[in-house]
Amino acid sequence: MTQNLLSPTKIVGYLQNKMIDWKIHCLDTIDSTNNECRRRAAENEGTVILSEEQTAGRGRQGRAWNSPKGKGVWMSLLLKPDLPTETIPQLTLVGAAAVCKAMEKEEGYFPDKIKIKWPNDIFIREKKAGGILTEMQISAGRIESVIQGIGLNVNLAAEDFPDELKALATSFLIETGKVYERERIIADILNHFEILYEKFLVGGELGEALHICRQNSAVIGRQVRLMNNGTETEAEVLDLGPRGELIVKLGNGRITSVISGEISLRIQS
Ligand code: ATP
Ligand code: BTN
Repeated sequence: MTQNLLSPTKIVGYLQNKMIDWKIHCLDTIDSTNNECRRRAAENEGTVILSEEQTAGRGRQGRAWNSPKGKGVWMSLLLKPDLPTETIPQLTLVGAAAVCKAMEKEEGYFPDKIKIKWPNDIFIREKKAGGILTEMQISAGRIESVIQGIGLNVNLAAEDFPDELKALATSFLIETGKVYERERIIADILNHFEILYEKFLVGGELGEALHICRQNSAVIGRQVRLMNNGTETEAEVLDLGPRGELIVKLGNGRITSVISGEISLRIQS
């Protein structure tokens, strides 16, 4: 079957801003685009690695990320932010907000469909359609580079998911019946990302990105289970705090905030 391979020229043609000098690389196959980005970490900010497939795609905490050929957006951005290390997890929210904005104007997609399951999952109708993996390299206490991996199940059909993911995962195609031009989605994400990122760099606050994450939250107002190192806590999610932390009300009525770190969150049905 002829495959519609990603075209870097098309992506560049859709780029709108010049805040970051994006350098787009489209590969055929790679272990993980995050790994490849890391191998190129000496390059300037703006290197973007895309691959038609990943043979060792990763999620958080080393979990495997299913990345079949020619149908998804498997992408990593090389960033060099001059920020304190403790603020870097907030960049995951910047990426998630950029994904939501990018999908807003996609034809065939209703704007309020795409949700963020804090902190890093992209959800559609309670199923996982994508995820974000932000990793950083530090040397002598300073950030050398940040790599943000964005994985989106764009044109995957049901048979592209292994059996164990079929009930948990979905794709843009499955949800809307439409095949999407991946280059357009990629460029729109980059267009929105650089605006939200620059605001974060300058003001040190999530601002607009936080607003988008709140608007598209899959968890605000819901009962959840928070899992951390084998302990489980039930809570109601009240809001996101100014640094992207989760503000929750515990069973005993106490209100507290939770930072992403090693926490996993499950929405209660
Ligand atoms: P957490 O709440 O900690 O983020 P998670 O179950 O979402 O937990 P992640 O590490 O974020 O885990 O994501 C990896 C998990 O996502 C895998 O263990 C698998 O269950 C699932 N997964 C893998 N590939 C895909 C994919 N292409 N689409 C949707 N889900 C996937
Ligand atoms: C998650 O939900 O845990 C995050 C999934 C991130 C997947 C993307 S695909 C592009 C980049 N390369 C990887 O190996 N992972 C990220």
